[in-house]
Amino acid sequence: MTRSQSAYVTIYGYYGYRIATHAYTAGRDESAHAAMTKPFKRLRDWARERKWRQAVRGVLVLLRCYARGLVLLIQRPRVAQELQNREQKIKKLESSLAKKRRKVRRLEKQGGVRFGDLDLRRLDPISRNFGVDRGRPIDRYYIQNFLTHQADDIRGRVLEIKDAFYTRKYGGGRVDVSDVLDMVEDNRQATIVADLTRADNVPSDAFDCIILTQTLHLIYDVRSAIRTLYRILKPGGVLLATFPGISQISCREAGSDYWCWMFTQLSARRLFEEAFPAGNIKVEAHGNVLVAIAFLHGLTVKELRREELDYHDPDYEVLITLRAVKPGATP
Ligand SMILES: C[S@@+](CC[C@H](N)C(=O)[O-])C[C@H]1O[C@@H](n2cnc3c(N)ncnc32)[C@H](O)[C@@H]1O
Repeated sequence: MTRSQSAYVTIYGYYGYRIATHAYTAGRDESAHAAMTKPFKRLRDWARERKWRQAVRGVLVLLRCYARGLVLLIQRPRVAQELQNREQKIKKLESSLAKKRRKVRRLEKQGGVRFGDLDLRRLDPISRNFGVDRGRPIDRYYIQNFLTHQADDIRGRVLEIKDAFYTRKYGGGRVDVSDVLDMVEDNRQATIVADLTRADNVPSDAFDCIILTQTLHLIYDVRSAIRTLYRILKPGGVLLATFPGISQISCREAGSDYWCWMFTQLSARRLFEEAFPAGNIKVEAHGNVLVAIAFLHGLTVKELRREELDYHDPDYEVLITLRAVKPGATP
C-alpha cells in the first residue's frame, strides 16, 4: 500500500465509517451503506489478489478505527454530561451578562454616572437643574431627613410654601388645617397669596407650624420675610426652614432674577437671631466635599452611598436646616 492509499484508508475508514453509519442507520442513504462496506470489500479484494501486506495493513487500520469508535462510545456519556454542564454554565453567564447589560442600559437611561469616569475638568455640569431630570436631588435627602426628625412639629394649622407636599407627607393626622402660601397668583394650590416681605393680608399668630423649604434664598429682603414668619407664627409655633449653601443656581432655566442668596450656618443663625430668641433656634449644616461636588454636578441621591451622604464636614455646607420656636405658652 502506498502512503496515500494508507492515508485514504485511515481517513475514509474512520470518518467514512462514522458518516456512513449515521446515514445508513437513519435509513436515508443507500449509497452510505455501500460506502460503509467499501473498506471491507477492498480487504476482500486484496485477499483475493493475495496482496497480503496491504490486506494486513487494511485490517490493522480498520481495527484501529473500530477501537477509536469503541473508546468514543464509552466516553460518550461522560463527554455528553460535561457538555451539558458547560452549556448550563454558558446559560448562567449569558443571563448574568444580560442582567448587567440591562443595569447599564437603565443607568445610561437615567444618566447614571460612575465616579471613576467623572472628569473634573469638564465645564458643563451633568445636570443644570439640581439633578431633578435624573432622580432625587441630593439636597432633598437632607431636607426630608430633617422633616422626618421634626415630624412631631408638623401639627395643628400648618403653612407651607408653594404646595402642601411635606405637610401631607410628614404631618399626617396631626394636621388640622393645611395652608399653602405663594406670591404667585396663578398657583392653584395657594390658599394664601402674599409676598412674605410685606404680607399684611396674613393674620398674626396664626400658624402652629410653618414649613419653609428652599424659599428664603429667593427673597432679597430676607430680614422682612423673617419678621413676617415670626409674626404669623402662633406663640409656641415652630418654623422648619431649609436653605441652600454650596449650590448651582440654575439661572439659565429659572432666569437671572431668581436666586439671591447662599447661606451658611452662621449667616442663617445671625439672621434668625434678629427675630427669634437665640436659645429657640437650632441650626445645622449638612454635606462634605464629595456631596458638594456631586450636588454641583447635579448628581442624585442614588449615586452616593448613605454613609457618604451622612458624613459631615463643617467646611462644606451644602444644605442648612433651621428650627426656630416663637416664644409662648405652648411649645
Ligand atoms: C423653590 S419653591 C420652594 C418651595 C417648595 N415647597 C420646595 O420645597 O421646593 C419657592 C417658592 O417660593 C415662592 N416665593 C418666592 N419669593 C417669595 C416671596 N417673597 N413671598 C412668598 N413666596 C415667594 C415662589 O413663588 C415659589 O413658589
